[in-house]
Amino acid sequence: MPRNMAMKLPDGVDPNNLPDMKTLRKMLKEEKKNKPKDKSLSKVMKYVWNGYRMQFIIVVVCIIITAIISALSSVVLQNLISSFIQPALAGTGDLSGLPSYLALCGALFCVGIATGATYNILMARIGQGTLNNIRKDMFRKMQRLPISYFDTHLSGDIMSLYTNDVDSLRQFICQTLPQIINSSVMILASVGVMIYYSLYLLVVVIVGIFAMLIVTRKIGGASGRYFMMQQSALGKVNGFIEESIHGQKVIKVFCHEDETKEKFDEKNEALCSSATSANTYANILMPIMGNIGNILYVLLAIVGSIMIAFGAINVGLASLINPETTMLSVLIGFLTIVKSFTQSISGLSQQINFISLARAGGKRIFDMMETPQEEDHGYVELVHARTNADGEITESKEYTGEWAWKHPHKAEGTVTYTRLAGDIEMHEVDFAYVPGKTILHDITLYAKPGQKIAFVGSTGAGKTTIINLISRFYDIEDGKIRYDGININKIKKSSLRDSLGMVLQETNLFTGTIKENIRYGNLEATDEDIINSAKLANAHDFIMRLPDGYDTMLESDGANLSQGQRQLLSIARTACENAPVLILDEATSSIDTRTELLVQRGMDKLMEGRTVFVIAHRLSTIMNSDVIMVLDHGRIIERGTHEELLEQKGSYYKLFTGAFELE
Ligand SMILES: Nc1ncnc2c1ncn2[C@@H]1O[C@H](COP(=O)(O)OP(=O)(O)OP(=O)(O)O)[C@@H](O)[C@H]1O
Ligand SMILES: [Mg+2]
Repeated sequence: MPRNMAMKLPDGVDPNNLPDMKTLRKMLKEEKKNKPKDKSLSKVMKYVWNGYRMQFIIVVVCIIITAIISALSSVVLQNLISSFIQPALAGTGDLSGLPSYLALCGALFCVGIATGATYNILMARIGQGTLNNIRKDMFRKMQRLPISYFDTHLSGDIMSLYTNDVDSLRQFICQTLPQIINSSVMILASVGVMIYYSLYLLVVVIVGIFAMLIVTRKIGGASGRYFMMQQSALGKVNGFIEESIHGQKVIKVFCHEDETKEKFDEKNEALCSSATSANTYANILMPIMGNIGNILYVLLAIVGSIMIAFGAINVGLASLINPETTMLSVLIGFLTIVKSFTQSISGLSQQINFISLARAGGKRIFDMMETPQEEDHGYVELVHARTNADGEITESKEYTGEWAWKHPHKAEGTVTYTRLAGDIEMHEVDFAYVPGKTILHDITLYAKPGQKIAFVGSTGAGKTTIINLISRFYDIEDGKIRYDGININKIKKSSLRDSLGMVLQETNLFTGTIKENIRYGNLEATDEDIINSAKLANAHDFIMRLPDGYDTMLESDGANLSQGQRQLLSIARTACENAPVLILDEATSSIDTRTELLVQRGMDKLMEGRTVFVIAHRLSTIMNSDVIMVLDHGRIIERGTHEELLEQKGSYYKLFTGAFELE
């Protein structure tokens, strides 16, 4: 017996204090009524319809023809018996019409084969094409999701959307959909043929159908629920595997192999349990339906034979169309059509499993697709600019080395240009990643063009968070951030990020050559620009020592390089971007002090005339900054130059002298 046949309780009902059965049922009904309807499958259908309308119409027509021809095969058989076989057996037959009758049947079945093949070929194309479109849209949407989405979803779980969940839709589109159309048409055509044969026998069939429907509803509903759980458990298992692969070294260092295995077993068990229940229900449905069909078949044969014995079978419309119709031929024809009728019903009910699976997969996919995307109400754009003799800024189509903010003013219908200078101000900014848990408090700072601003402070003080806000990875709760006097909410995110050259705290490299990875910063960079950027970051020497130099392939996030080399490459990538504002978050933390000094010199060149935000734990890196901000628990507690802060003898002084003591 499948697990968990117990009644599901409505939300909020205490299992230890149950109301009576009637109230419980009423509550369940109410809950079901109020539950938002799941529209995943109609969304999938929309994809099919929008992408392949014409082909889909042809498929439907072909399926209808195939199904009708299939249903007509019983009529063909019945007529063959009444008009040729029975008279021949009785010795009264005239077989002269037989060859042309057989030729007609042959032609009919050939058409059936052709339409069947056509719809199958087309359906494969429609199915794969639709999945292709869905995957494309998913990926496009994923690129627009806010960073917070990735904070709250395991990457393996997201991967599972592209693999398991999309695959559940493949099954639905390529197999279930044609089968549903085919079975529905077959059922309709069979009912038509049954009416044509005998209304009395049809009554017996209707009783059988009721039994089939009740079984389908009960078992199909249960398997649907478990398929939903199965897809979610599958995502969790994938997420865990991905995390374990990523953290293999850490697992080994802490000897957590056994615990990891246990945790995996737990998740795998949950997957196994939901998948077993889903498949148990799914698997028992088919034999039950098949046997109800068989019982119906035998019942009809008995009832039909008794009726023939009493001469009580009515030969319905069949006798009107073919006066030679005999009762035996009607019974044989009826039994043939009932066979295909029950097969269609159980085929249809079997699809319920795939519908449930597709609904579960589709829901996860569309939940991701409907997650509110990164909001961007910005309308101020970054453009190439040129300044003429009287200081007026104009827009330019080509690269000029000068940039300006193009600011349209809707009300006046004018456009103004502001030179991109790199003036950044934060005014009384508060921020929380999770509502209610404020991380930054009342941050106010001014970074004048060309200034080097440094953030120091203990781990978790909020340094990276400030950078996250300047680049608008997250939006602020309260306060204002201005960039060259423009509220950054008005600046298009792509323009804003274009103007910022960032070396992030975590280095990420992509599969490709070293050259391609540096060019990532600026797709128009020439090979010479790339080499110059690498020299600036002091990466050129180590690159030249690699077997293929700049053409060395990097795989798996640059796993074939040392941590410091990866940082040098990400600095080179940012240098190649040549952006007016630089943000360096622990950019040199993994680089030895001698190399750091060399990088520093290169970077100093790069920093000339640019606004730079630097975060560094190694204070020697930031000593020459124009302003140093000391952060503690999300507040700026000290600010000033290195000398001023030392004089204050506060936290910075302690950090600095402490750092020296450590070295
Ligand atoms: N994505 C996030 N979701 C929720 N909280 C976060 C998130 N990222 C950071 N935090 C929290 O915000 C606080 C500040 O983190 P932040 O990364 O800004 O510190 P930091 O000063 O850069 O530290 P470090 O020197 O270690 O890089 C920490 O308490 C951290 O727990
Ligand atoms: Mg940080």
